[in-house]
Amino acid sequence: PVSLGVMASGSGSNFEAIAHGIINGELNAKIQVLVYNNPDAKVKEKAEKLGIKAVLLNHRDFKTREELDQAIVEIFQNHGVQWVVMAGWMRIITNVLLNAFPRKVINIHPSLLPSFKGINAVEQALKAKVKITGCTVHLVDLAVDSGPILIQSAVPILDDDTPETLHKRIQVQEHLIMVRAIALLPHLENQ
Ligand code: GAR
Repeated sequence: PVSLGVMASGSGSNFEAIAHGIINGELNAKIQVLVYNNPDAKVKEKAEKLGIKAVLLNHRDFKTREELDQAIVEIFQNHGVQWVVMAGWMRIITNVLLNAFPRKVINIHPSLLPSFKGINAVEQALKAKVKITGCTVHLVDLAVDSGPILIQSAVPILDDDTPETLHKRIQVQEHLIMVRAIALLPHLENQ
């Protein structure tokens, strides 16, 4: 199985999708550990219910982004993590994480990259009045929301969409491409 370390900041629906993909046999993988950064993130309870170890690293306790990343690296290395999955991680990462896991970090983003990078990607797409947006899983490089794209899924924008209704439909697609992207990882090992 592929050894995963997951990073999440929020509700954890993508984390849950990965865990379910493993439980139902779609994925030959194991989530070794979850790192989350908000004490009240819903993802924590999801991990507990699934019996997956969850470690809180509150970014407010670290002086620099590098120090937070160093703590994450140590946890992942201690748990034998091979691939790092950013599943709704809302902090900018540094080369401390990328150097420890070169070309072994993936991220999910709620837009069709390279459009609408950064925060509020769903609102950005609505404001731009595009007709189609979606989501992307990509390998992470140092720039924010950039790096080789693994999978994308398109989602049409409806006339009466709000950020919430649109984000909900995007997330349905996120859960599918997240599982598909993780299934691809063994094929990327030697690139
Ligand atoms: C997801 O929609 C993900 O694409 C987004 O956060 C949400 C987390 O949801 N990530 C970003 O915006 C990264 N810049 P979840 O906690 O339910 O998986």
